[in-house]
Amino acid sequence: MKVLGIETSCDETGIAIYDTSTDELLADKLYSQVALHAEYGGVVPELASRDHIRKITPLIKETLQQAKLSLTDLDGIAYTSGPGLIGALMVGASVGRSLAWGLKIPAVAVHHMEGHLLAPMLESNPPEFPFIALLVSGGHTMLVEVKAIGDYRIMGESLDDAVGEAFDKTAKMLGLGYPGGPILAELAEQGEADAYKFPRPMIRQGGLDFSYSGLKTFALTTWNKSAKSEQDKANIAHAFQEAVVDTLFIKCRRALESIADENQTRQRLIIAGGVGANKRLREKLAELEADIFFPRMQFCTDNGAMIAYAGAIRLQAGQTEEAVIQPKPRWSLEELERPST
Ligand code: KG4
Ligand code: ZN
Repeated sequence: MKVLGIETSCDETGIAIYDTSTDELLADKLYSQVALHAEYGGVVPELASRDHIRKITPLIKETLQQAKLSLTDLDGIAYTSGPGLIGALMVGASVGRSLAWGLKIPAVAVHHMEGHLLAPMLESNPPEFPFIALLVSGGHTMLVEVKAIGDYRIMGESLDDAVGEAFDKTAKMLGLGYPGGPILAELAEQGEADAYKFPRPMIRQGGLDFSYSGLKTFALTTWNKSAKSEQDKANIAHAFQEAVVDTLFIKCRRALESIADENQTRQRLIIAGGVGANKRLREKLAELEADIFFPRMQFCTDNGAMIAYAGAIRLQAGQTEEAVIQPKPRWSLEELERPST
């Protein structure tokens, strides 16, 4: 089954084609709106929707060309239905549903975070179920117990800012430009190890929830008290990143311990979402006593491939839906069901 995936939940238009008969990604194209939003220092929802409208059709054509396919070769359509920006979601949902209607093929609404957490399945050594997923993006920070596709239990999540959001806001405050996460991460490499010590929020109390807005404020106070040199900036970036990575490491270890069985079976942890591209996080999590899986770098951030894959699995299992366009800007992972009937 050849499935066209459409991702338009935020500021990237992602289109891809996944073939379930060969378990292969046939094509994958991405158009990023980063330059469009850069001058505003963040995503402007209305501009995002309009740009998706401009880019989606040409990008679908280019993706088909890359796969050497025509529209009539497609067997199904998968589009991100939520969570995300309502106007942006609406574009992908309308195009996906209409294409499917016109081609008389099925379409499926995909949960954006299910897309992220299944992204490691596109690699040559995919994890087996069950596993724990650390989802770290601009909008979400959560630990999820994944027993099977569609069987998700949220073990912990951020009570305030998502970790990517904290990276972005801290970077903005330090005047680092947009999107701040990767820029701050690069600057952190030039920071001196012990110049500043940042707190590790939510560690002393038990549980698996996170909190990142305090760290952002701590970074601001530290910056205001410093001499504001370039080295101070790098030192703050370094201390901030260390605090974030440490808290994520501790919570992942705790999550693994909380469901370890008495036979000490080796556990699996997958990391997905934009912050999964962070080098220091990848390095640190490799120290855990578990098998660790990451998607390749370009599938950590938003992309069409993960949506094509997640949708293909559901379509292949015969999931059907009414032909309605109904994006869900808010949508809990726990509402999903297993695809098999
Ligand atoms: O998954 P994603 O592309 O979009 C959402 O669904 O939110 O994640 C984007 C987030 C942004 O906050 C971005 O700054 C962050 O991921 N990010 C990073 C890195 N690369 C992307 N944060 C820290 N270090 C990075 N290398
Ligand atoms: Zn995302």
